[in-house]
Amino acid sequence: MTSFSIEPMTATVGVEIEGIDLAAPIGDWVARSLRQALHRHGVLIFRDQIAMTRAHQADFARIFGDIVRSPLGLIADPDVVEIVHDETRPPTENIWHVDHSFSPAPPRGAVLRAIELPTAGGDTLFADMRIVWRRLPEAVQTALRGLDAVHDIAKFAPAACAAELRTAAPPTCHPVMKVHPATGEEILFVNEAYTTGFDGLDEKDGTVLLGYLLDQIRIPEVQCRLRWHPGTIAVWDNRSMQHYATSDYFPQRRVMDRVTIA
Ligand code: SIN
Repeated sequence: MTSFSIEPMTATVGVEIEGIDLAAPIGDWVARSLRQALHRHGVLIFRDQIAMTRAHQADFARIFGDIVRSPLGLIADPDVVEIVHDETRPPTENIWHVDHSFSPAPPRGAVLRAIELPTAGGDTLFADMRIVWRRLPEAVQTALRGLDAVHDIAKFAPAACAAELRTAAPPTCHPVMKVHPATGEEILFVNEAYTTGFDGLDEKDGTVLLGYLLDQIRIPEVQCRLRWHPGTIAVWDNRSMQHYATSDYFPQRRVMDRVTIA
């Protein structure tokens, strides 16, 4: 039986896993243990996976769930989206977000693989929204229970295509406090990229409340920070985590391969 070790990235969020070759078949026991670790720690990091290919990455993602194919998927490898930033395509993911929170059923998670990195920078930060929820004062938690927030793709879309994107994916409401379907833990579910307001609150009150909640995500104690190296793989639970990709390396090139889990 394969054995592996788990090293915490911080006292609370994220772990590095050593001793698993993701280019080799993953047995049922390891797959089950990794699913449990993802639910528990929110972010799993694997280093030095140099032999891993796009096909291995997709196979690995499938141990966590079905793959969501995007229209942006590669022609030769439709399970994979290549995220390329360079001097002609500046980075844009430097905003705290839950992937696709504007959709009625946002993805469960993602597997991201470092392909080409700047000489320094381009780190990714993760925030644990279970901890953010637990740190809120009880009176705030009580006020938020039963409240829905509006998530709109147009908030974070380029102005030229925002209306078109919103027609394809109309704004959606999600509870501000969501319960994780696998662990039963309570999670604050609002994010800077897509949350625009709250159902039943006027714009002024909604803006103040949203600003307060988004400030809680910026507290370093709820975060971990990943420094990428070639062959680094990150898996995150999109239901309990938010992420933020730093854009400090422009105009250098950074290329990542991403597989999204339904
Ligand atoms: C993303 O925001 O999905 C990409 C994260 C990254 O490139 O580090």
